[in-house]
Amino acid sequence: MKQNVVDAVNRQIREEMQSAYAYLDMSAHFEARKLPGAANWMRNQAREEVAHAMKFFDFLIRRGERPRLAAVEAPSTEFNSILEAFELALSHEQHITQCIHDLFDLAQRERDYPLQTLLHWFIDEQVEEEEAAEGIIDSIRLAGESGEAMFMIDRELGLRQPEDEEEA
Ligand SMILES: [Fe+2]
Ligand SMILES: [Fe+2]
Repeated sequence: MKQNVVDAVNRQIREEMQSAYAYLDMSAHFEARKLPGAANWMRNQAREEVAHAMKFFDFLIRRGERPRLAAVEAPSTEFNSILEAFELALSHEQHITQCIHDLFDLAQRERDYPLQTLLHWFIDEQVEEEEAAEGIIDSIRLAGESGEAMFMIDRELGLRQPEDEEEA
């Protein structure tokens, strides 16, 4: 693989791990706020992000490259409500979508066809990620932020199950 492409994939591994950190931090925040459903949703989201990092990690190995892991930063997600947390999640996913699109542009410019194929999966996944966050934001806006509404939404978010490795 071309070195600039390998470097870009390594940067995306870091982005996915940083995403996992951000969601895990949100999970800790919700645990502390006694919102176990929202905490569960964020914990599963964090797991998915680690699985995304692993897809890129394994891709490099399969191509005969050695993944290089860069430092992730301490997460700094500050929010005061479930609504704000999911708004942050949405804007974070929009950032990741941009990263994936930029990586795809690079893969096209450098004519790295296997990376383009891998990225098709991620392009679809980002549509789902944004759709999921938007759906939850819509529900919260509709329900309002009364204690009762929060209880219902938390219960709903608690239903999210961990995904299979393959689908994550
Ligand atoms: Fe991701
Ligand atoms: Fe994501």
